[in-house]
Amino acid sequence: MENKQEQWTSKLGFILAAAGSAIGLGAIWKLPYVAGTSGGGAFFLIFILFTIFIGLPLLLAEFTIGRHTQKEAISAYKTLAPGTQWHWIGKLGVGTSFLLLSFYSVVGGWIVIYLFRSLTGGLRGMKAEQFGQLFDSTISNPTLVIFAHFIFMLMTVLVVQGGVQKGIERSSKFMMPALFLLFLLIVFRSVTLDGASEGIRFFLMPDISLLTGETILFALGQAFFSLSLGVSIMVTYSSYLNSQESLPKSATSIVGLTIFISILAGLAIFPAVFAYGIEPAEGPPLIFIVLPAVFSSIPLGEFFFVLFMVLLLFATLTSAFSLLEMVVASITKGDNKKRKKATLVTGFLIFLMGIPSALSYGPMSDLLILGNNFFDSLDYVVSNIMLPLGALLISLFVPYRVKKAVIYEELTKGSNMNKHIFNIWYFLVKYIIPVVIILVFLNVLGIFDLF
Ligand code: TRP
Repeated sequence: MENKQEQWTSKLGFILAAAGSAIGLGAIWKLPYVAGTSGGGAFFLIFILFTIFIGLPLLLAEFTIGRHTQKEAISAYKTLAPGTQWHWIGKLGVGTSFLLLSFYSVVGGWIVIYLFRSLTGGLRGMKAEQFGQLFDSTISNPTLVIFAHFIFMLMTVLVVQGGVQKGIERSSKFMMPALFLLFLLIVFRSVTLDGASEGIRFFLMPDISLLTGETILFALGQAFFSLSLGVSIMVTYSSYLNSQESLPKSATSIVGLTIFISILAGLAIFPAVFAYGIEPAEGPPLIFIVLPAVFSSIPLGEFFFVLFMVLLLFATLTSAFSLLEMVVASITKGDNKKRKKATLVTGFLIFLMGIPSALSYGPMSDLLILGNNFFDSLDYVVSNIMLPLGALLISLFVPYRVKKAVIYEELTKGSNMNKHIFNIWYFLVKYIIPVVIILVFLNVLGIFDLF
């Protein structure tokens, strides 16, 4: 029996939910750090180019599959390629989302801890040097990190249980605009600091001589991660969209918002970092060590730090909703009676799966897999193998398994995309994207060296 799926109530709701999935730790936490160590403006420029010429076409490809079939990912591939093995793209996506959320939620938990601390004045009066130590003792405290990871998963479960409209769409419609507003405030504070201009220059003036083969590949991986591509999440999300809306327009808005937030993230962080003479440091430290230090020494700093943690929590939650929804939708297949229980059970399993990641900087830090702790190993497998593999399969599936006329019709529904643009898009998806992904893959596996 076919079930009628729930739908987004409006195009805006869809765009904000999809942008909510895209904008998260990738844009706000990882991008500034990678840019900070990989050439600043030059890295950022390459990231933007990949986002537009590879990310955007791939996003449109996922949208076409989802909206055309009106089904969650696994069923969508089954519908378009019945009797074949292509549905494994959907299954791979579900597995990848499950694993990704298990460690994503651990970082979500760290944010919960810092938000709680900043709200209760727990960071007050600390000296800049002490924040590094505080971060280490925080992420190595087993009870604290597991509890915070639990709280983050609980929040995610409660929203996703509410369903597509009442849960995900409603909370994204509130959280995303709040995120933009809070971000503008933070950026304003940051760029008006004495000495901010050096940070702005570092971030926005590309110095091409700083680029290396590795940086270019990082930028590509970052573009996939940042747009939530490769796990068919955007297939599932667009299956809740009716056929009057223009897919190219929605995709362009989502990519535009993601780029906009990435710029804001850089403008919030680098001027502050430079104004206080701090080196653009390493991943976790950048937000959890540098920012409290920076904010503790400026007027109203405590208030701005709370704001920053709130917006980071919102951004991380809306991404987590999409990861959980991807798994839940593959179980309920549109049957809303199963949603509450399916969400609770999968959420709990993901919580359990996340425990070794949560303990990776504490009691389990000695458990090394090829020299990395459990958290880093899992992140490596997911980000460098499973995501590009999924993206590659999708970029092969669309041009080679779906009729060109069907795709053309779907992409031009509710939109005035002209034939030339369509052909350029088709060419990118069919020839350019798979080749680029294969090169990245070979490079990651060390089989091929780009430079
Ligand atoms: N895009 C999110 C971020 O930047 C993370 C994310 C959510 C994701 N869903 C995904 C990444 C699917 C890859 C695939 O934080």
